[in-house]
Amino acid sequence: MKRIIFLTVLAGLLGFSLNARNTSESINFRSAKKTVLNVSVDGQPVKVDWYVDNYVKYPNRPQDQLINVYVPENSTKSSPIMFYVNNGGWIANSYPDHTIAEGSDYNGTYDRVGVALKEGYVVVSYGCRSRANEPVDGSYLGHSPATMTDTKAAIRYLRHNRKALPAGDVEKIFITGTSGGGALSTLIAASGNSPDFFPSLHEIGAAGVSLEKDGTYSSDPACGDNVLGVIGYCPITDLGHACAAYEWLYGDTRRIMYITGEMNYPFVDESTVMSASSALAEQYTGYVGGLGLKDEEGNLITSANLKEYISGLMHEEIARTIEEIGAEQMQKDIEKKTRRGNRVNNGWLVFNDDGSYEYDLDKHLYYVAKYTTLKPAPAFSNKGLFVTHMNEDSLFGSAEVPYCPFNEYSWNNDKEDNGVGKDETGLSWEEYMLTEEGRELAMQIKMTSAIDYLLEGTSDIAPYWYVRHGMDDRDTSFAVEALLFAAIRSNPKVASRNVGFAWLMPHSGDYDVPEAYSWLKTIL
Ligand code: DHB
Repeated sequence: MKRIIFLTVLAGLLGFSLNARNTSESINFRSAKKTVLNVSVDGQPVKVDWYVDNYVKYPNRPQDQLINVYVPENSTKSSPIMFYVNNGGWIANSYPDHTIAEGSDYNGTYDRVGVALKEGYVVVSYGCRSRANEPVDGSYLGHSPATMTDTKAAIRYLRHNRKALPAGDVEKIFITGTSGGGALSTLIAASGNSPDFFPSLHEIGAAGVSLEKDGTYSSDPACGDNVLGVIGYCPITDLGHACAAYEWLYGDTRRIMYITGEMNYPFVDESTVMSASSALAEQYTGYVGGLGLKDEEGNLITSANLKEYISGLMHEEIARTIEEIGAEQMQKDIEKKTRRGNRVNNGWLVFNDDGSYEYDLDKHLYYVAKYTTLKPAPAFSNKGLFVTHMNEDSLFGSAEVPYCPFNEYSWNNDKEDNGVGKDETGLSWEEYMLTEEGRELAMQIKMTSAIDYLLEGTSDIAPYWYVRHGMDDRDTSFAVEALLFAAIRSNPKVASRNVGFAWLMPHSGDYDVPEAYSWLKTIL
């Protein structure tokens, strides 16, 4: 026992935690394990060299902190690198050993792996820490920023090994992912080389981050964690305001659906949901205008005109889809068959005989909610309220606690016996956010959010952005995505972007591989 205390104190003096520095791994690509895979694309054989290595010197989940580098035979030193993230549910990050699998035949048009292999792109995937990880010696090491930090460390590994890589240009890294992975991809694209991540990168022994004698951190420009572009789908982002955004947009839909008897959660009653909904919606009102985001005409986006802004984005996609598939097919899509029967067009999108159409956002919201049950309120930060839905709370908090509520409503109403929340600290959210722990929580939240870094504008923001969110996706509010789109569209560091809503897509990704990868080709 004495020995453990001594080591802990010594580790503390040296500025690292014992958990983080339990082993020291080589991060030299020359010692990566190589396997030759035989696969095919549209029936044509392709050989792929598959390398596996550690990407940090001091992993605390060595079974997950591994990187796969897949090098197809037709790739060159100037091929782009497609960097696949997982983070499904903001949670699933275990090391994948079959991103490209021996003997598989890939479709070279519709499958992103098939396209990459056909074009000779290098494919990278990796595992990392996540909020689902069990504690190590009582410490929760998977909270923010662990997932983001590990992702950045894997990117740094590639640059660190640029000479040894048999193919792939480390200045042409495109990051891609869906949902939790869409949030992670956009965060990485927005926060290249941000010093916010240096302490956590240094702690795990990521390439290119040093601790100087004066206690500051520095980053070797040759080993940066910036990327050239992103292809992201339905990002579950802006978590700090996502619960509020959800109620701001869907609050009235809920109210109507309770009246019509279409809203029913077995675990929480109407008055609890609706009082949370109203309180959260109110929080969002002040937030939107404070961001200073502008629309294409230079008008400030506020909660008073955000619905108009969202409708404008929907109009863009509707007009584009009319061109692509025509009104008749769109009407069929709206009324498509589901397991619960045929969907009904409640008038959210009406096509007139003269080729014009009318769109109604409120009816659109009802249409979405009718066929996919809305998340309860609060939609994300809800663990301390006994809501068994997603519980993103476990992304946050110090290493001592399993989770932490991450907005005002959820903090003030936390009921669980967990060492956090107003119930146990005696501090309201406002008071707590002025404490040291509160500031750390604010930083953890920021480190998950692309919007924060796009607005701050000091990081190496990726110049190329392709982002989609489906028009039939209720996993986060259209408001969250609209503000993300606005932040991308108005960012001076963004050279080219292709971001918007996607015609009647549900919560999913990679549904438009031909379109997304032909966009990518225009950049290359
Ligand atoms: C995902 C979906 C969610 O509804 C959520 O809250 C977080 C992540 C996902 O599909 O990755």
